[in-house]
Amino acid sequence: MAGPALIGSGHASPELLLAAASGSALSHLAMASQLRLGSALALVTGAGSGIGRAVSVRLAREGAAVAACDLDQAAARETVGLLGGPGSEKGAPGGNHTAFQADVSETTSARRLLEQVQACFSRPPSVVVSCAGITRDEFLLRMSEDDWDKVIAVNLKGIFLVTQAAAQALVSSGCHGSIINISSIIAKVGNIGQTNYAASKAGVVGLTQSAARELGRYGIRCNSVLPGFITTPMTQKIPQKVKDKVNGIIPMGHFGNPEDVANVVAFLASEDSGYITGASVEVSGGLFM
Ligand SMILES: NC(=O)c1ccc[n+]([C@@H]2O[C@H](COP(=O)([O-])OP(=O)(O)OC[C@H]3O[C@@H](n4cnc5c(N)ncnc54)[C@H](O)[C@@H]3O)[C@@H](O)[C@H]2O)c1
Repeated sequence: MAGPALIGSGHASPELLLAAASGSALSHLAMASQLRLGSALALVTGAGSGIGRAVSVRLAREGAAVAACDLDQAAARETVGLLGGPGSEKGAPGGNHTAFQADVSETTSARRLLEQVQACFSRPPSVVVSCAGITRDEFLLRMSEDDWDKVIAVNLKGIFLVTQAAAQALVSSGCHGSIINISSIIAKVGNIGQTNYAASKAGVVGLTQSAARELGRYGIRCNSVLPGFITTPMTQKIPQKVKDKVNGIIPMGHFGNPEDVANVVAFLASEDSGYITGASVEVSGGLFM
């Protein structure tokens, strides 16, 4: 990816352009584009759909073994089926990808998830990406307590439970790690009909920054990603009229793809971002910059 971008950017020297025409230079550039993920074990929640699925695919492509977790077990299994490569075969060299079912909003379920992942792979995950999330939209004047509680339970408490359990496992085994929590651009500016969602996502940013402050000394980095409007089942419910309006205020002029978020997550997961912690990275096409 870095190779073709460099060549097409107009900044490449004539020598590099000439060399790039040869296969060896191209393969060198391709190698340089490989992120430093090594043989990481990555736990991805919400892996059965949208952003979590794209993150799983991208991390597997970078060489990580993926523990794909979702509330919906069949969806998590489907994701594992997409990961391909030698790593997808259980027991094959290079690691194996496995599906897990868990409800991240339940304490026992979240704790069991980390235990199961460790038992399955004989090590704690060094990359943890919390993508599980829900919406229950309603105007503040009409929002039920149940809709408030459900969104906070999955989007905020779920991230607390997974981050805490993963950090405890990493600290007690002396391993370094990268924790990436998916927030939202709505954390920054709020949104009509989303008091519950905006509060949960703003909470994720604060939680992640606090965790980054506490866990830096253990070599554990914590960052959040703030996607804008991304084409996934979650945004399928938005009426086309509203989508057209939103597109009008996005500087890039269109919704993002799950892969746009996955690319940034892969960078934050890798050692290429080794000195980045406590950051909130916006992947919004410039929306609400
Ligand atoms: N799509 C967007 O425009 C957008 C924008 C900003 C932030 N986000 C955030 O990105 C994350 C992924 O969103 P998406 O668009 O891929 O949504 P999605 O609905 O496609 O996927 C969410 C996944 O989370 C799973 N899930 C829900 N509750 C769970 C629970 N309690 N335990 C475990 N898994 C659970 C679902 O089964 C589903 O597979 C969410 O946190 C969302 O808030 C999405």
